[in-house]
Amino acid sequence: MSQVHGKWVLITGATSGNGRACAEIFAKNGANLILTGRRSDRLESAQNILIEKYNVKVRAYSFDIREFNEAVKMANDLQSAEIIPDILINNAGLASGKDKIYQGLISDWEKMIDTNIKGLLYVTRAILPMMVENNEGHVVNIGSTAGHLVYPEGNVYNATKYAVKALNEAINLDLVGTNIRCCSIDPGACETEFSEVRFHGDKNKAAKVYEGYQPLKPEDIANAIFYVCNAPAHVNITNMVIYPTAQRSAYVWDKK
Ligand SMILES: NC(=O)c1ccc[n+]([C@@H]2O[C@H](COP(=O)([O-])OP(=O)(O)OC[C@H]3O[C@@H](n4cnc5c(N)ncnc54)[C@H](OP(=O)(O)O)[C@@H]3O)[C@@H](O)[C@H]2O)c1
Repeated sequence: MSQVHGKWVLITGATSGNGRACAEIFAKNGANLILTGRRSDRLESAQNILIEKYNVKVRAYSFDIREFNEAVKMANDLQSAEIIPDILINNAGLASGKDKIYQGLISDWEKMIDTNIKGLLYVTRAILPMMVENNEGHVVNIGSTAGHLVYPEGNVYNATKYAVKALNEAINLDLVGTNIRCCSIDPGACETEFSEVRFHGDKNKAAKVYEGYQPLKPEDIANAIFYVCNAPAHVNITNMVIYPTAQRSAYVWDKK
């Protein structure tokens, strides 16, 4: 039986892509889930499907992680139900726009900074105290290879993922003396709704990002997260960088 069996796993951004794939693998292995995202219809549907398929408990909280009060409300509700998350997967995030810095939209910048940095901080600040009190658990932050190397027109998205890298290191340091482990999973190109969101709903432009090579699949990222969370308690994998085989860096690709 896997170590996550019977544990509570909180996944932000569980309505699509990497978050939804995480929900599947953890539920399949007997974990109970706390799912978040803004699209309540998708949350409800994931909740029903996963309960039916895997016979696990699933709680859903539909809110915008840019609102600290909403994260606190969720934490309070979990506390009232005497649920302490064992694993927190800070996955919700986005790129919005891809422009030169002197042409970028302020609204895109604010969306990325408020979601990728502040949203991650808000959920962590609301949930981590319970985990510290319980003295066990795992925090998994979804960073990006965009947090290791800047690429043209990536500017603010890159900056937010560099911030996630720094915060992942900071969380790890601040958790010394506890049994809580902390890891950032940093994917390269992965085919999700990410590019559609980045290009403001332009499906054709988004599809081109994944043409001519095999990108990562959300299941690849979920498998890696599952592996990290299943490592023995004395093993703290602090960072995992995952590229598609056809992509060796932001600049080196094998596209047919
Ligand atoms: N795909 C890639 O190539 C790639 C590469 C490296 C890193 N990543 C990272 O992987 C993570 C997941 O992205 P993905 O690729 O799976 O993209 P995705 O399919 O677009 O999923 C993004 C998730 O984040 C949630 N989200 C976005 N803004 C939110 C907000 N303000 N409040 C609450 N939830 C919000 C979305 O839910 P709602 O819209 O329902 O709120 C959705 O569930 C992100 O942190 C992204 O930066 C992706």
